[in-house]
Amino acid sequence: MKIRYLTLALASTLAFSLPAFADTVEVLHWWTSGGEAKSAAELKKMVEAKGHTWKDFAVAGGGGDNAMTVLKTRVVSGNPPLAAQVKGPAIQEWAAEGVLANLDDIAKTEKWDTLLPPVVANVMKYQGHYVAVPVNVHRVNWMWVNPEVLKKSGVKEAPKTWAEFDAIATKIEKAGFIAVAHGGQPWQDNTVFESVALGVGGPEYYDKAFVKLDPAAISSPTTLKAFDTLRMVRKHMDKDMSGRDWNLATAMIINGKAAMQFMGDWAKGEFTAAGKVPGKDYLCLAAPGTAKSFTFNIDSFIVFKQKNQDSKATNDFASAVLSDSFQEVFNQNKGSIPVRLGHDMSKFDACAQKSAADFVATNKSGGLVPSFAHQMAQPSAAQGAIQDVVSSFMNSDMSSKDAVAKLLEASKKR
Ligand code: GAL
Repeated sequence: MKIRYLTLALASTLAFSLPAFADTVEVLHWWTSGGEAKSAAELKKMVEAKGHTWKDFAVAGGGGDNAMTVLKTRVVSGNPPLAAQVKGPAIQEWAAEGVLANLDDIAKTEKWDTLLPPVVANVMKYQGHYVAVPVNVHRVNWMWVNPEVLKKSGVKEAPKTWAEFDAIATKIEKAGFIAVAHGGQPWQDNTVFESVALGVGGPEYYDKAFVKLDPAAISSPTTLKAFDTLRMVRKHMDKDMSGRDWNLATAMIINGKAAMQFMGDWAKGEFTAAGKVPGKDYLCLAAPGTAKSFTFNIDSFIVFKQKNQDSKATNDFASAVLSDSFQEVFNQNKGSIPVRLGHDMSKFDACAQKSAADFVATNKSGGLVPSFAHQMAQPSAAQGAIQDVVSSFMNSDMSSKDAVAKLLEASKKR
């Protein structure tokens, strides 16, 4: 609390040079890689332009597992930041604790209900009230490819199905390259598994097994096949993968050490930051078998009730996040697409344009599904338990049959 009063005191001494109601905007996020940090810097700029003081609360660790642990400690001690990067069903879980601010006023003034696709708006609401503001739409089912490595390996085309993946990856390895760049961390293991399961079973199966957590779908032969396929993909990852950060795996594609990486399009932020051009230096292709599907991952911020602050800072923050200008520049750096409907995509690269078109098309066709590896689909307890199963499978010789049984148990966690 002392720190809080000090901040206020400091802010009031500065008040003469700032617009009224200037305040400290502390934001928890996990955007610390090259591309991510550039994106976060745009948010800081936007908040400062509104006259507030940005207080960075960055907790390193891709996928946000570390950030969530730190957030819980801060909230329990009664000292939450103003905003925190929280996504999917966890938004509702936090809202149910009664600690979130209500964003209905700003949402009404700025017409969020017409600005946002319903599939996005629904996730931001708790019992019909806005408690979070979305930043972007990431697509997770991508395969990032170095075309030069394929060429040098005598591979004409990247794999389009998991059935042809094994032979192509083996060919790449015989030419002296790493076939799959991967970082052995639980959330990255789960990210790969998600694309494998989607490619093997299709969006309807995916929805039943991983969104509805239907026991029959989870125990089906399709899940067994998904684990068998994951075992095959695992064989094509290098021996140094353990603990490697995702952006270092992306760097292996950028510098031509490896051929393919399965990762969401925040990886594109790394290619962009390295000055690489899609279609020339790298390819963004759907993971095998998933061309007609789209696993979405919407970054969003929940905002906490503040003891000593009126709603001005909160509203300014939310308004900045959804502004056209912020959406344009942030998403070009981040690799994602704007969350506002009808945003002009002409200045975005080919991967983002494809993502935007596929988002709309899959929303109509039924191929649009939430990413469970990125906390968009499952209650957080089940999500954590499922991630643990996938990760132990990747790091042991567990049979696919045992993995399916363990997955079923994990899916019941609440
Ligand atoms: C995701 C998040 C992305 C990106 C990624 C790697 O969960 O949605 O914005 O930061 O983790 O850190």
